[in-house]
Amino acid sequence: MTDETNDEAPPVQLWTRDGFMGAHSVVTRSTYAPDYVSVQGPHAPRRAVLDRLTPDDWDDAQALPTIVATSRLGVRLLVSGRRKPMPYVVRNVEADEIHFIQSGTVRFETDVGSLTAEEGDFVCIPKAIAYRYQPTGEAMRSVIVESPSALKLTPPAPTGMINVARDVTYAKVGPDIPAGGPTKLVLKCADGENTVFTMPHDPLSLGVQLSESVPVWKINLCKIQVLTYLPEGGPPSQFLSSGTGDVLMFNLSSRTSGRPPIHINADFDEVICYVRGPGAWGGCSDPGTLTWVPKGVIHHGPSEDVPETYQAWLLETRATLRWTPKAIAASQLMETGEYGPHPSAGK
Ligand SMILES: [Fe+2]
Repeated sequence: MTDETNDEAPPVQLWTRDGFMGAHSVVTRSTYAPDYVSVQGPHAPRRAVLDRLTPDDWDDAQALPTIVATSRLGVRLLVSGRRKPMPYVVRNVEADEIHFIQSGTVRFETDVGSLTAEEGDFVCIPKAIAYRYQPTGEAMRSVIVESPSALKLTPPAPTGMINVARDVTYAKVGPDIPAGGPTKLVLKCADGENTVFTMPHDPLSLGVQLSESVPVWKINLCKIQVLTYLPEGGPPSQFLSSGTGDVLMFNLSSRTSGRPPIHINADFDEVICYVRGPGAWGGCSDPGTLTWVPKGVIHHGPSEDVPETYQAWLLETRATLRWTPKAIAASQLMETGEYGPHPSAGK
């Protein structure tokens, strides 16, 4: 796909079904389609810098992560920023979870073993696996994606995009977690109606691992290779998806390509997390910037061909996301050209 902003040709507008994979239509327009004057209502593009969104668990160790967005399909987006260990164990009984570690080092203890996640790691905790986590240093920040449909690494080929043997790390049983005393176990549901059991012992105190397969794993964003069709770029390819195809995740870090076309994504909301530079990605230069373009909203998006390089990932979901009042208060309306604040933001 070529850069439609050059002076010789009128801007092209692309409409697609099924994300990058379905039917499409291309027309030209005499004007720059992403421009809008103002907007009212919930289905409007937004951006949030994580450092300006203080999660509830930052000051209150008892708190759960803060919900950024919910949906009728049960797909949710949350943020966490702990300075102290979780004093309880949580088991999500309705969704798989991907925890992306934006900053800090985080120790996860789970029903199937423990692992330590670093900045840039995606950690997968499937439905009904109990866990707790804690920063090993002063603090951590993470973005959590919840998917009711099971999530799996699904790169385009068994090798190439991901070196599974080298770069996917699984949880391991041990070192010993003592049986301990009474422990709170929170069963987490998508409707926010959580149920709290008091268990006589620490439910994460394990013995040995007997099965070969381990469902909790991690991989770092920088170990997921980007795909591009030289010389023009073309769509990225997902590295992870849900069984129903409602959730897809991509490495959207800098790559050799033309700028994306101006387009309307008929079926997927797009959430992009600009993780860090050194290069800026259009209007995004603050590490940990979340951008959201709801389905059916025309957008362009910054060029991904940034020589200084940057890291970013994309969540595409068929769920129609709705940001929570707290997240709306900590975010801004976004223009959909370069993904900066919309000129009306703050007015
Ligand atoms: Fe898009």
